[in-house]
Amino acid sequence: MAVERVLSGMRPTGSLHLGHYNGVLKNWLRLQHEHECFFFVADWHALTTHYDTPEMIEESVWEMVIDWLAAGIDPASATVFIQSKVPEHAELHTLLSMITPLSWLERVPTYKDQQEKLSSKDLSTYGFLGYPLLQSADILMYKATQVPVGEDQIPHIEFTREIARRFNHLYGKELGFEEKAEAAIKKLGNKRGTLYKELRTAYQENGDDEALESARALIEEQQGMSMGDKERLLGYLEGGGKIILIEPDYKLTPASKMPGLDGQKMSKSYNNTISLRESPADVSKKIKTMPTDPARVRRTDPGDPANCPVWQLHEIYSDDSVKDWVQIGCKAGSIGCIECKQPVIDGVLKELKPMQERAAAYAEDPSLVKNIVSEGCEKARKLARETMRDVRDVMGLDYS
Ligand code: TRP
Ligand code: SF4
Repeated sequence: MAVERVLSGMRPTGSLHLGHYNGVLKNWLRLQHEHECFFFVADWHALTTHYDTPEMIEESVWEMVIDWLAAGIDPASATVFIQSKVPEHAELHTLLSMITPLSWLERVPTYKDQQEKLSSKDLSTYGFLGYPLLQSADILMYKATQVPVGEDQIPHIEFTREIARRFNHLYGKELGFEEKAEAAIKKLGNKRGTLYKELRTAYQENGDDEALESARALIEEQQGMSMGDKERLLGYLEGGGKIILIEPDYKLTPASKMPGLDGQKMSKSYNNTISLRESPADVSKKIKTMPTDPARVRRTDPGDPANCPVWQLHEIYSDDSVKDWVQIGCKAGSIGCIECKQPVIDGVLKELKPMQERAAAYAEDPSLVKNIVSEGCEKARKLARETMRDVRDVMGLDYS
């Protein structure tokens, strides 16, 4: 199987909470061991909506990176960087803007949705309209094949695929493409060349997607082959011209089941969160003051866990024997709510402890975090420069 490259970004929104951890971050943690991963702080994206409060950006950026690392993002496995530290993103955004029909941007659903939702703010800006294209630049820059995102972001990935296709269509044509592709097939050698042709026929005549995948893997494996020839062979597989920008796939992040303290989804806007760096005393206090089944006025009144937000936390943090104890004790009125909450408190504290230890080490020595990020930026930038060289070249901007 060809190597997958995963890229995802998060807006710097300040410190992260258990909802982020149980949704996005756990997903990232798994991916970082399976694939080549790039995770970045989308600080320019934050400015598209929060251009009037720049003071919150800088602090949020560092807080968020510390939370990522605390959660277990491992800089030895994943590349962590900040968008604005790789200014190539802005250049690619500008160049892609030349070929982006306005109507494509206007019909991205978040454009109208967010304008309505954040009606207190003037979002009829050029930057806000162009924000999905900035996201496309983020993704296409690294030739990412997989983009883990929430459901609301899927239209942005589809938009990105359309942009990549349009770009390749406009700029992937070159004089004598077929001859060059045939010459590249010869370079594969007899056996592989024949295999490539068989797979290409199987895909083009029968739409065999597995053949397409195998052929792509075959091309990726070629060690000494130039980028140009690889792109030609990839493009020739599907017909057209060279594939310069790769169409990414999205990978839907399973929605976090993490309930907030009031039983609604955990979210900063509902003020029902437990942050990753919440002190143990505050965790206890927040859970102890959580509402429970209103039927349980006295300790002996029977209740029903189905009507209680604490039960939703048991579903996440408790094993079957504790859950049985809750079900029976609550319905019989034989356990008190404070008693019932204790295993949840213990579970949350146990989950947070290793994260808080890691976070403390980073908070104590900020240079650790700065070094990780500057190494990540360096690595990201190297790839970004390569992509920009190709993009400038095909857009007629290579003056060397
Ligand atoms: N737009 C995303 C969000 O608001 C963040 C983001 C920016 C992103 N660039 C990206 C996500 C690239 C995935 C890939 O959540
Ligand atoms: Fe909720 Fe537990 Fe109290 Fe039942 S006993 S109402 S599940 S806190």
